[in-house]
Amino acid sequence: MVRFENNIHKYKIIITMKKAIILPLLFSFLLAVSQNIIAIHADQGKTIINKNIYGNFAEHLGHGIYGGFYVGDTNKTIPNTDGVRNDVIAALRKMKIPMLRWPGGCFADTYHWKDGVGPKDKRPKMVNTWWGGVTEDNSFGTHNFLNLCEDLGAEPYISGNVGSGTVQELSQWLQYVNFDGVSPMSDWRRQNGRDKPWRVQYWGLGNEAWGCGGNMTAEYYANVFRRYATFMTNWIKGGHLYRIASGASDDDYHWTEVMMRDIPHNLLDGIGLHHYSIIDWNNKSSATKFTEQEYFATMKSALQMEELVTKHSAIMDKYDPGKKIALAVDEWGGWYDVEPGTNPGFLYQQNTMRDAMIAGTTLNIFNNHADRVRMANLAQTINVLQAVILTNKEKIILTPTYHVMEMYNVHQNATLLPLKLTTDDYKVGNEELPSLSASASKDSEGVVHISITNINAHTQEGITINIDGMNCNKVTGRILSSAKLQDDNTFEDPDKIEPKRFTGASLKDNVITLKMPPFSVVVLTLK
Ligand code: AHR
Repeated sequence: MVRFENNIHKYKIIITMKKAIILPLLFSFLLAVSQNIIAIHADQGKTIINKNIYGNFAEHLGHGIYGGFYVGDTNKTIPNTDGVRNDVIAALRKMKIPMLRWPGGCFADTYHWKDGVGPKDKRPKMVNTWWGGVTEDNSFGTHNFLNLCEDLGAEPYISGNVGSGTVQELSQWLQYVNFDGVSPMSDWRRQNGRDKPWRVQYWGLGNEAWGCGGNMTAEYYANVFRRYATFMTNWIKGGHLYRIASGASDDDYHWTEVMMRDIPHNLLDGIGLHHYSIIDWNNKSSATKFTEQEYFATMKSALQMEELVTKHSAIMDKYDPGKKIALAVDEWGGWYDVEPGTNPGFLYQQNTMRDAMIAGTTLNIFNNHADRVRMANLAQTINVLQAVILTNKEKIILTPTYHVMEMYNVHQNATLLPLKLTTDDYKVGNEELPSLSASASKDSEGVVHISITNINAHTQEGITINIDGMNCNKVTGRILSSAKLQDDNTFEDPDKIEPKRFTGASLKDNVITLKMPPFSVVVLTLK
């Protein structure tokens, strides 16, 4: 009996020991067995991902233009072309920037374009009332911007002044930049050194008309839009003029409803939408020194884009089932406190792996809604908010956001592929978010690209990708990751975070398996 009991005891000990060894093994096995599955139909793409989804935004704000793009026509210390930094041009070309929105933002509805053309010493100055109350000398104007876009190979997207400008002023701007014949404005353009028109297709009629653009109601603005749009002549030979209404803030669905209902569709080509990833407007918190809770809250706000785009699109579908009118998310990105010691009106913030997570997830959302989202503009390109470039005198940093934009540029003008994603959750406290987001496309040479972002701050995610509709022979990839979420590129260490070759994916029988580190972005290439 005693022996028997001893045996039982021994047996219990052995079982307990086995449990101690087996359970963790089983647990890690379960972790390794992927809960994440992506299914892609490589032969079922229908919609083109408009390259303009990868657009940027440059406002006369802080050091976005002055000290960012533009260092002055006579600058001898920083290599430039007509005052625009050469290193900035080269970086943005490499990123394949497809579109640039200018001159605002709130600034646009205070801007009088005629003050920014002609001899620079005769240009009137103005006060930038929205951004720091600084004096604007109008030395960077229409010619600088449109020549810059030509250099970049990017579509210009001009925000016209509707809030404090006149119908005549806006219609003359169009004639100045787009008319090839003889007219007062095109003749003035020639006098100012530009013979051929620039053919600017994309025009915003005001900005945030519900706020800094005039505090209008949706109903009132819709009528104002009708009036301005009527006098916007399409001077572009063989080209289309896209008239884009100032859009809703976040979930103001009434705004979109009224635009779609009250503006005749022959006058309307797009409606804007602005959404910033922000924790709390009254407590935005540091761009670099943030807790996991703050990271989670930012990502929750970023992922709200999915719901916003879905619901605004559903309203548009009701009035425009043929999807003629685009949803233009012409301001998006992370917004935090300014860097300590900088002018609060200049919105200068650093850029970390958190921003890479915002960019990766947001661009996946836009890709997956490419049937309606055909334009978007990250706020903003240089030295302002979620910038792709930061400058300090002759130095320049390409931010983690830049690298995501550059990695994802393979999707530009490619065909969106239908994709089904089953993902683990990323849990903090009682809340959870999907760990993964993904989108896929096939380019004109039949090459498939899959972009995946893992926002989970702790967990390496195992992923299985099932492909049908093509024979995959080879998978390669690039990854953006770093040791800490708060990591950034600094002027002392500008290349700390940059894309690397990703060797963690393997392919067998059209099934790809890979493991993605916490807070990382991967873009796979399948041939
Ligand atoms: O991007 C900064 C500002 O945010 C823009 O000027 C305005 O449109 C928005 O409120």
